[in-house]
Amino acid sequence: MNILVTQRLPEEVMNMLHAAHTVVVGSDDRPMSPDSLIRQIARMDGLLSTISDRIDADVMDAAPGLKIIANYGVGTNHIDLKAATTHGILVSNTPDVLTDATADLAFALILALARRIVEGDHRTRSGRFRYWAPLEFLGTEVSGKTLGIVGMGRIGRAVARRAAGFNMNVVCATRKNSRQPDKDGRVGYTDLNNLLKISDFVSLHVPLTPETHHLIGKDELGKMKPTAFLINTSRGPVVDEAALTEILFQNRIAGAGLDVYEHEPMLTPGLADLSNCILLPHVGSATIETRTRMGMMAAKNLLEGLAGRIPTNSLNHQALR
Ligand code: DGY
Repeated sequence: MNILVTQRLPEEVMNMLHAAHTVVVGSDDRPMSPDSLIRQIARMDGLLSTISDRIDADVMDAAPGLKIIANYGVGTNHIDLKAATTHGILVSNTPDVLTDATADLAFALILALARRIVEGDHRTRSGRFRYWAPLEFLGTEVSGKTLGIVGMGRIGRAVARRAAGFNMNVVCATRKNSRQPDKDGRVGYTDLNNLLKISDFVSLHVPLTPETHHLIGKDELGKMKPTAFLINTSRGPVVDEAALTEILFQNRIAGAGLDVYEHEPMLTPGLADLSNCILLPHVGSATIETRTRMGMMAAKNLLEGLAGRIPTNSLNHQALR
């Protein structure tokens, strides 16, 4: 059968796919253009796509033989799931395997913001570290501070576990059905408004859905303490980036650590000029171990779908009915 892989994946994964089917691969370093995707998909049985590919009904209309879209990533807001089900195309994703890497990155941003790591690096390498001084380059302590986690799914819970090791107080706002029994009494549940008011660090871990689009806008940012930091490793459009840029420009919160952007890879004008934010290029899952695990999982899902079985990480088994 024919498989389209829109961007090259770790070698182990490519070998597994090549051994099973005929594989067409996109570029090493950039997403496939929508035109090229539509052109190539016509004769494909399986698609292994990434979060940079927009897979809408037009793509599916152009793919009469397509049986499965195996997404390389957990977030699937770029795939029209409803259209896939109507077209009888299975969709799968890669949950769990990127939880720790993404939680690590959220925590790295918390520490980097608190202790001004990026600024310190710039100062040192630019030759502006002249002497040690008691009041020089003061950051803020993480221990004992309140971390507000918005969304207590797999990644939110992994961030909470890390925060426990740093002796933080953790509060979280989440859908009622994501609440977990809190064995150690370390996590307090609250509503979003209260979380924003009391947290020193607010870390976002919700999927992008119509309900979470601009969940954090001007009003919500206005509720945060002037000393608080916002961390977003989930999806860019969860935050109104223009409102955040304005609030950061006015120093109305202490700073932000962003790994994702509303119009990725574009940034809201002015954001990159601000020194009170750390901007990363969507690298939450970017470790060799995690990217390999994601690839193996996506490839297995793809092969299962091509064999006429419901993939382990299927999101729409109804597509086969
Ligand atoms: C995902 O899987 O949704 C991540 O954003 C990829 O890094």
